[in-house]
Amino acid sequence: MASSFFRQILKIVSFYTFGVLNWLLYLGLFIKTGAFFKKDSEQDKLQYAIARDQFWNLSKAPLPGFRHFFYTLRNNLKLHYISNREGASSDNLIVFLHGFPDSSMMWRHLMKEPAMLSLEATCVYVDLPGYGGSDSFKRYGTEVLEALTEFVVAMREKYISTEVPDSANTFIVGHDWGCVLGFRLAVDASCLADRFILSNAPHVSLVEHAFANKDRLLNSASKIFKQFKHSPRRNLGCLSKSVNTLRPLLWQIFLMGYIFIFNLPPFFVKYMGVAGNYSFVRGAYRAAYGRGSNERRVQECMAASFGPGPEECKTSRISNPDDRNGDTYGPTVLERAKSPKEAFWNMTGYYRDGVGWRPWTKSLEALADLYPFDEMASHSSSLSRRRSSISTSLFADPVKGSLKAPTYVLWGEKDLACSRPICLDGLGDYLGKDSEVTILPRSGHWTPVAQESRLALATVISLYAGRDAKPVPKMTSEVQKVYPDAVLMVKK
Ligand SMILES: *[C@@H]1O[C@H](CO)[C@@H](O)[C@H](O)[C@H]1NC(C)=O
Ligand SMILES: *[C@@H]1O[C@H](CO)[C@@H](O)[C@H](O)[C@H]1NC(C)=O
Ligand SMILES: *[C@@H]1O[C@H](CO)[C@@H](O)[C@H](O)[C@H]1NC(C)=O
Repeated sequence: MASSFFRQILKIVSFYTFGVLNWLLYLGLFIKTGAFFKKDSEQDKLQYAIARDQFWNLSKAPLPGFRHFFYTLRNNLKLHYISNREGASSDNLIVFLHGFPDSSMMWRHLMKEPAMLSLEATCVYVDLPGYGGSDSFKRYGTEVLEALTEFVVAMREKYISTEVPDSANTFIVGHDWGCVLGFRLAVDASCLADRFILSNAPHVSLVEHAFANKDRLLNSASKIFKQFKHSPRRNLGCLSKSVNTLRPLLWQIFLMGYIFIFNLPPFFVKYMGVAGNYSFVRGAYRAAYGRGSNERRVQECMAASFGPGPEECKTSRISNPDDRNGDTYGPTVLERAKSPKEAFWNMTGYYRDGVGWRPWTKSLEALADLYPFDEMASHSSSLSRRRSSISTSLFADPVKGSLKAPTYVLWGEKDLACSRPICLDGLGDYLGKDSEVTILPRSGHWTPVAQESRLALATVISLYAGRDAKPVPKMTSEVQKVYPDAVLMVKK
């Protein structure tokens, strides 16, 4: 009893110690690289104001062909999104979910890809709760999944014409946290979309599985180490072998250091958010564009990351007066605009509050939202295959966490935040029929941002979701036309 109590204490202490160590390490890095002391010039400040106005001023178009919209959730909080369409059509619908520390504006480079411009589909780029122009939540647990379910259903009702509900498909595209959420929805609310297109973040069931395997790793490492202790001279090779066995685990823990930082008490997290004039976020964007890119505009990135400022919160949309979704940002957006520390605390809430891993018991409202789509999915599947009484039996459920909708994964292999051995290998066991994983060997974490990988992503989206989309036998072959050394990892 007492010993388990002390073990628990020890666990907590080592967790925080590791977090604080990382915190110091990151700050040290900012100081060493000089980022910490860098001051913005007047020119930079002007550019920042211009970028904020362009992206977030509600009375104008954020990008040519796009407009601002709001959707008011049942809990009265508002989600902000931008779209190229005003209302229903018979075209496909694509909902884009961004990640940390981004917003809908992260997709701005992808939006301008020729393949995306000629898409002829309805595109909805939403700000996740607590990001960009969407309201803050009190917590970022499964309430985020509830909100997204409600939102996607509302978008299907708004944008897909009821005359042809079967001929238009819905797609969910996710990156980073948007990808984690996409995996969760593909497991627990798969009827929301006909296909998920996800990139560069873990399926949490897979990681849980990998970390259950950490005991196996630790065991085999310690066995080898014991052998070494037994007769050091003869078994010198064993020591390096034991270190090698652990390497993937140690490497991932080191790279995930920032997650430990985000789990420290508020003071540490908020300070990390603004230290050295936002060195953390700036560093993330330096990685995003890749070396030698001439597309990175620091002030645009900061404006995309931190959302509307106090000035933009005064603007309003031009819309018809009986639009119940309102015309201005919610009050919590202004609170974040006034305090970047609060904004950073909200963005990092996803790492603390369990939206990635907490079991999701759906509310009655969410069940009611999903019901008609579940019916529709089971109806169309029973037409094309043997009658099945429940739609989800479409895919066998061999492992906990299997994805029940067709899923395509595009993975930048040089991802520093999510390393391949822990976050990707083994994903095949969770995929259902008509799914595929393609690896981009030269690309990193920011698939939708870096030039080469986003061309691959735009190609994939246009082939699946364009107006004249036809079934694609092997997507990796199509990707290879624009990214020659792309590699097929799994196809089901
Ligand atoms: C810090 O960064 C912001 C956003 O890029 C900028 O507006 C501000 O002027 C910077 N402050 C200093 C002191 O450089
Ligand atoms: C927003 O844009 C409108 C139209 O271009 C402009 O008149 C207005 O000054 C802008 N508002 C703010 C707060 O910048
Ligand atoms: C999010 O930000 C709001 C301000 O908009 C703040 O009141 C709230 O405590 C924050 N919540 C979380 C979970 O970070």
